[in-house]
Amino acid sequence: MALVSTKKMFEMAYKGGYAIGAFNVNNMEITQGIIAAIAEEKAPLILQVSRGARKYASIGYLRAILNTAVEENPDIPIATHLDHGDSFETCKQAVDDGFTSVMIDASSKPFEENIAETKKVVEYAHAHGVVVEAELGRLGGIEEEAVGVSIDDVKSHLTDPDQAVEFVEKSGCDSLAVACGTSHGAYKFKKEPKLALDIIQTVADKLPGFPLVMHGSSSVLKEFKDLINKYGGDMPDAMGVPEDAISEASKMAVCKVNIDTDLRMAMTAKIRQVFAEKPSAFDPRDYLGPGREAIKNMVKHKLHILGCVGKAAECS
Ligand code: G3H
Ligand code: 13P
Ligand code: ZN
Repeated sequence: MALVSTKKMFEMAYKGGYAIGAFNVNNMEITQGIIAAIAEEKAPLILQVSRGARKYASIGYLRAILNTAVEENPDIPIATHLDHGDSFETCKQAVDDGFTSVMIDASSKPFEENIAETKKVVEYAHAHGVVVEAELGRLGGIEEEAVGVSIDDVKSHLTDPDQAVEFVEKSGCDSLAVACGTSHGAYKFKKEPKLALDIIQTVADKLPGFPLVMHGSSSVLKEFKDLINKYGGDMPDAMGVPEDAISEASKMAVCKVNIDTDLRMAMTAKIRQVFAEKPSAFDPRDYLGPGREAIKNMVKHKLHILGCVGKAAECS
């Protein structure tokens, strides 16, 4: 049975100093591209679905795609995860829909409310054999200009390690997304990429063995930015998290690394290239097929950055 929760994966990833890739899926081609990569590289996998993806594709189609991915890969441990659940109701729905892991993101709420909402999700999810990721702190750049406030204010959005201990103890969550300077999307930094990986180490020292999660972990690779711009796109100032920082975090207590933007860029670059080089193409398979291949290649590359190549068997 390849459909699993993240429990064993995180145990093995923590011990082995690697991280599991959590890739966002919105349609069949994206999922197939990811699956082709993990099947070749024999890596454990988290397939995650955002609220936006549920709205775009509808849960019926998504469930069928995810189930097929799992059925066709019995030797690969795959967890299905709700990304950024915004309420108890959304998380309950995902548990009822058969997801093996849910994220409750109440990080914008006051500390005590975040704990209370997370605890409520934990009680329901655990009663159904589902694990829960929570978030403490706010994602966003560390650079002062990135958010237009003072550096002290920026730092106050990062995860406070002492609060993290209290949060985990009181909420009962199974993993915690920490804010250490990453942010979502293709425009993470204005000048130099800057992360506070020391926060991850401090949380790890205070919560030994507890799995941490890094959101906003796309690197916005120059090659793909250049291709997009070359073929008529407009992403001149896009900037991501350097891949060596992702590798470093993966060796630490970070057991799950969320990547969406880099997949979007790989697919977009390839489709733009096809349109530019084959203006006569109008069969969607002529561009979605190469787009799917581009996703596969990007995911293969990422699995090496995370260090989880060949780890499927030990996570099963
Ligand atoms: O959390 C961000 C992910 O990239 C999902 O994005 O909400 O546009 O599906 P989305
Ligand atoms: P990126 O936008 O950096 O790919 O982050 C994705 C993410 O964190 C999904 O939850
Ligand atoms: Zn995220």
